[in-house]
Amino acid sequence: MSGTFDVPLEKKSYRPDPSYRDQSWLGSYDEAYKRFLDDPEKFWADIAGELDWYRPWDAVREWELPYARWFTNAKLNITANCLDRHAASERRNKVALIWRGEDEEVERVLTYRQLHRKVMRFANALRDLGVRKGDTVCLYMPLVPEHIIALLACARIGAVHSIVYGGFGAAALNARIRDAGAKIVITADVGYRRGKRVALKTIVDEAVVNAPTVEKIVVLRRTSPSLELFSEMEVDFEEIMEAADPYCEPEVMDAEDPLFILYTSGTTGPPKGIVHTCAGYMVGTYYTTKYIFDMKDNDVHWCTADPGWITGHSYIVYGPLAAGATVLITEVVPDYPDPGIFWRIVEDFGVTIFYTAPTAIRMFMRFGEEWPQKCNLDSLRLIGSVGEPLNPEAFEWYYHTIGGARCPVLDTWWQTETGMHMITTTVGEKMKPGFAGRPIPGVVADVVDSEGASVAPGTGGLLVIKEPWPSMMRAVHNNDERYRKYWSTIDSYYTAGDLAVKDEDGYIMVLGRSDDIIIVAGHNLGTAEVESALVSHEAVAESAVIGKPDVMKGQAIKAFVILREGFKPSEKLKSELTYHVRMSIGPIAMPSEIDFVDSLPKTRSGKIMRRVLKAKELGIDPGDISTLEE
Ligand code: WT7
Repeated sequence: MSGTFDVPLEKKSYRPDPSYRDQSWLGSYDEAYKRFLDDPEKFWADIAGELDWYRPWDAVREWELPYARWFTNAKLNITANCLDRHAASERRNKVALIWRGEDEEVERVLTYRQLHRKVMRFANALRDLGVRKGDTVCLYMPLVPEHIIALLACARIGAVHSIVYGGFGAAALNARIRDAGAKIVITADVGYRRGKRVALKTIVDEAVVNAPTVEKIVVLRRTSPSLELFSEMEVDFEEIMEAADPYCEPEVMDAEDPLFILYTSGTTGPPKGIVHTCAGYMVGTYYTTKYIFDMKDNDVHWCTADPGWITGHSYIVYGPLAAGATVLITEVVPDYPDPGIFWRIVEDFGVTIFYTAPTAIRMFMRFGEEWPQKCNLDSLRLIGSVGEPLNPEAFEWYYHTIGGARCPVLDTWWQTETGMHMITTTVGEKMKPGFAGRPIPGVVADVVDSEGASVAPGTGGLLVIKEPWPSMMRAVHNNDERYRKYWSTIDSYYTAGDLAVKDEDGYIMVLGRSDDIIIVAGHNLGTAEVESALVSHEAVAESAVIGKPDVMKGQAIKAFVILREGFKPSEKLKSELTYHVRMSIGPIAMPSEIDFVDSLPKTRSGKIMRRVLKAKELGIDPGDISTLEE
């Protein structure tokens, strides 16, 4: 079989207390998956039926490869589901949003009713600026409640939002504004990071040069004295809001009207504007929040992402609010004023669901367990991870030190393009460190060879999705060819670009991006595998490996290693690490070179950019690096 390779599989597993599964919304995985397979359309229609619609759908799904339509001809507004539905119910005075600023005293709380009213006013303010259904609005904001308010206000009036993470620079922002043709940019004077101000508005000033579609810049002014607004183009966030009418009926949207564009870095070429539409995205994020995160009315949900990533769109804003949850957001970073801050927040607010990234978990490990141990984390009920493979070492630490060997760990595999969780271990099912888990009910995923044939357990191959799902992306903005490629690399399957392997129980281990694969002497190795072996050594905090051309072996492995506190670089340690990899994976995976480094090039969402390391190593062009953190 072509495009496949063997992967040794770990056998360890943990089983959470049965009460988790018994009390969960989903119940037994096998039964739920069977319900889905028996009648996929009914499965999705039942979930959609829990939400509010102005007009029902004529068909649940229409599929003409590679174009899907879900809930055809239905009419809805996602904010009516995220806000009005709760504001008109007993959830009216329930806390929707808790915001925690950098200064430990600064805290803001908005109930569903308060959030609803603010969104309506700001929606009218946008209309007053001339924004209409179908216009694009760019958000470039710090993590404050106004970010969420502005985003929901766009959705309320049918404007397409394009959020650009506040850590991006002017060139990246300019490219995204231009590609999306944004009419309005919403920003703030500053964001706060580690006690310092980040001048966002200054970056916007630079980014709107040569962006002729931009008509107005809305500025949230947080500092005093207030930043002066100069040109005709600039308006104050609060002022336009106060001047606007308090009531704003939601725009009636068609199921397939676009809801937002979100740019994601392709491994090659410029960022892709991933387009999601109203109904399918709403149903997918609502479903996964309620049935996969098992969101209950008394949960306090903290997803540490920024709204500028898909994780924030789906699991800070749309999913949790559609499910009527209490959402915590914060501008604080994990290590300021000290590495205990995240755990104090968990204790202070009684966080029950905590969702973060492996890169953050490895950082917490590096800080040491004394920090979480200073706090009472008993409120936690579920802990989750997303963004990269959660290596077994990090799983163990997360499960024991943060989850108290009690909380199910949800290692959720998904993408900007998928909109919602696709693969994980659902609440209460047996967990296997290193494995994300099985496709969730509603998703048909598999590992295949390059011809599209399923491979046997233990054989690595390409991760594919075989059937369309409601929250799948509908387009790459202005680039149909790039959209079609997702469904044509392997005929009629969606290829995610990731390599994976299944075990006998159908659990899927994600090995990393296929373009990160290293081929040593004819053997394929996922970068994640080798990195995971390195990180399982007590001296290693984090690592990245790349393949370098090698006359003998085709490719040789070079490893970049960040050491944990208390360990010093030495030749002896290098041979120890090499031996450690040999013992964990085999001689084939032994790095031929190891460099000790202080940091690794990462995207702003925390993913290691191996191609940057590789380009530097080989002295070649790294391609588009606008998503690089530093
Ligand atoms: C890529 C998608 C989805 C929100 C954050 C990232 C990697 C994501 C996992 C996981 C192993 C993972 C994949 C995927 N990835 N989650 N649980 N285990 N890898 O969104 O920026 O669109 O990146 O992130 O490589 O393809 P994104």
